[in-house]
Formats: sequence, structure tokens, C-alpha cells
Amino acid sequence: MNHWIKDINQAGHLKIGGCDLVELALRYETPFYLLDEEAVIRNVNEYKQAFSKLPNCEIIYAGKALLTVGIAKFMANLGLSLDVVSGGELYIALQAGFPPERIYFHGNNKSPAELEAALEVGVGRIVVDNLYELNLLSDIARKTGRHGNILLRIIPGVEAHTHTYIQTGQLDSKFGFSIAHNQALDAVKKAASLPNLSLKGLHCHIGSQIFELGSYVKTIEVMVGLLAEARQAGIELTELDLGGGLGIRYVPEDQPASIAELGELLTTALTDACRQHQLPLPKVMVEPGRSIIGDAGITVYRIGAIKENIGGKTYAAVDGGMGDNPRVALYQAQYHAVVANKADQPRERTYTIVGKYCESGDVLIDKIKLPRLEPGDLLAVFSTGAYHYSMASNYNAIPRLPLITVYNGSSDIVVERERYEDLIRLHRIPARWLD
Ligand code: LLP
Repeated sequence: MNHWIKDINQAGHLKIGGCDLVELALRYETPFYLLDEEAVIRNVNEYKQAFSKLPNCEIIYAGKALLTVGIAKFMANLGLSLDVVSGGELYIALQAGFPPERIYFHGNNKSPAELEAALEVGVGRIVVDNLYELNLLSDIARKTGRHGNILLRIIPGVEAHTHTYIQTGQLDSKFGFSIAHNQALDAVKKAASLPNLSLKGLHCHIGSQIFELGSYVKTIEVMVGLLAEARQAGIELTELDLGGGLGIRYVPEDQPASIAELGELLTTALTDACRQHQLPLPKVMVEPGRSIIGDAGITVYRIGAIKENIGGKTYAAVDGGMGDNPRVALYQAQYHAVVANKADQPRERTYTIVGKYCESGDVLIDKIKLPRLEPGDLLAVFSTGAYHYSMASNYNAIPRLPLITVYNGSSDIVVERERYEDLIRLHRIPARWLD
């Protein structure tokens, strides 16, 4: 039995959250995303516990991983704060009644309308990315007579060991003020001098799906060094947001660090760096997305066509694919799966799992050993809670999947399945094309 398979019933069916996946598939039809609420709660509690030694720490859920009105409400109930990166995410959060003062507004190119909305609803912090935005925000605050609490996003010049597409801490990153050439310190001085804005502290985020925690230690040394330089310049910054990025297990071979290890390491590194610079410990924020919700998600597909090709590969096609999971094509991501209706059977044949999209790159799992497959079998693909629904597309006019949540034997809809009518809801025919 591996990490993901904890409960198999007498019929050999996989159970999640006390629900039989075969029954869920009949009830909701396939494909669908499934969320194991208990796993989210466990991850959140682990975060709270891991950072409990810090006198002042805020855990901020990164909504880009998965955000719907229901999920925002769930996260609010769990006592988390929320990171949003667009007017759209802010809207979803507010529709859920998420307390604005617990919202952090990120983004490297926020529009004037987005900044205005952030000031108007009174988000907790606006994380300013660049000088253009700093000036724009200051102007909007002055003109509207509002006040904004801000952090500055800093590029610490640290390369996280992860896929280059999801590295963000290296000096040539598009996000933030660079630590090099005093760019960051100059920005701190400028931000601290602006009326209508209060500079509270600094933010950084070095990347995502990070396994080697050493990059965080280097980042903390750089960031605390900058807090010390600001202090020397007479600017007291009391908050340090360290971003998210902790990796999760997608395949059995993955060995991510635990949330507890991250908490321990960050706490020690911060304490050491602050002692070295004779600084008081700042309020600390962390912004996990994937490590809160990633391993709580599963995608359930039904197997259709199965065929052996000339090269000897056996393809099994599912009723979803790159539209609901673009991560394989984008980041060469790997996944693990179980045949939910044959969860107790030995894995004796090797399959390549492909989707139904018109692309050769629409491969979900290149090689996986599974019990002998038949059309109609249910495939449960693990660790699809983060960056799947939120990155899904309607390519090939295939409706997006519903999201079902399970807890203690009951299941509920968080997002309805899209219907064909939804696909054309915004389509128009210009009058001159009509006869
Ligand atoms: N904070 C900031 C400022 C971020 O940009 C991100 C992620 C996070 C927090 C949360 O990072 P996490 O804990 O989830 O690693 N689409 C990619 C991931 C992109 C991450 C973008 N930023 C993927 O599917 O792997």
C-alpha cells in the first residue's frame, strides 16, 4: 500500500474521504476533480504547528493553486489568509466573504483598476512589484484619498532547484526589485517616503515545487541582510513574507521535505540571521499553495480506447487529458495513478495513459504499471489538487471538469461540470455575418 491508497473496500474499490470512488463516478459522471477535505485540514494544521515557534507568523494560502468561492470560504474557515494575484481572484475571495484585511494582493503588472479595487476594499497588504506600480499606486491612493499598506517584492538572487519555468528567485526573474545594484534598497527608501502608503516589510518567493530547502536558508540571509540595511537607513521594517514553494510528492519516488522540516529550518535560519544582524524577529508570513491543496486532489477518469501500437507501447486513453491537466506538457510533470475499481489487483502491465485531445503531447503518464485495463475502468490520478482546475482550458471545446469534495463519507459539489451551453455563453455572431 502506498502513500495515496489508505482505504480499499471489500469490492476492491478505492475509497477517499470515506467515499467509494466507483459510486462517486456513477453519481457525478467522469471525469471529475476530487478534493479530500481531511487532507487539506491535515496540511493546514501541519503548517500551523510547524511555524508555532515563531512569535508572530501568518499562513497565507496561495489562491492561484485552486480558488473558487467555496474554496475561499473553506480557507477562511480554517483561519488562513489569502494571496490573490488578480482582480478576478480578489473578486472570488470577496464573493466568498473572505475578510479583506487577510488578503495579500500580488502580481507583476496590476492594472490601475486592480490597484483601485485593492485600496477600495482595504486588502491587508499590496505586494508592490516594481517602480511603475509603486508610483501608480501612490497616485491612485492620493487621488482617491485612500491609504495602502504595502510590502515590496524582492528578487533575492537565489536559484531554487526546480523546473526553470517555476523558478522566480534568480536575478533575471521578471518578478520584483533585484537585490543587485542596490535596486531593492533604493526602492525601500522611495516606498518609505511616499504619502498614503505605509511600507510594512519585504516579500520574496523563490519558486515552486522545491525539494531542496537550502535555497530558503540563502534567501533568508539575503532578506534579513536587506532588513538590516533598511534599518541602517532609518527605515524600520517589521514584516517578512517568505513566499511559498514547498514541493509535494507526485510519484512514489519523490521525496519532498515535510512541512515540519520547512518550519524548523525557516525558524532556525531566521533566528540565526536576525541574531547576526542584531535585529528583532520580524512578523513572518509564508504563502503555501501546492503543499496545502496539491496532495488533497485526485482526478478520476474513465478508460476508453486501449491499443497496442507498432512500437510496442500500450496506450490507454482517458476521457480527459491536457485540458484538465496541462502540467505534463508545460513542466514534464509526472503522475501516479491507481485503477479505482481494481485497487487491490497487482500491477502487471505497463501502459501509457493519454488524453482525448488532438495533440501528441496529450500524455498524462508516459509509463505506469497497472492491473490489466478494460474500457470502463476508473483511473484515479493523484496529487492534482493544485494548478489543475486553476490552469484548465477548454481546448477542443471540451467542458471543464466539476470539483467534488469528500469528507467523512459525504460528497458535495464545489464546482459544477461545465455544459456545452457554457462553452458558447460569451460567443456572438456579428450582424453582418447573418444573412
Ligand atoms: N507566492 C507567490 C508570490 C507565488 O508566485 C506562488 C506561486 C506561491 C506563493 C505559491 O507557491 P506554491 O506553494 O504553490 O509552490 N503553475 C505551476 C506553479 C506556478 C507557481 C506560481 N507561483 C505548476 O503547476 O507547477
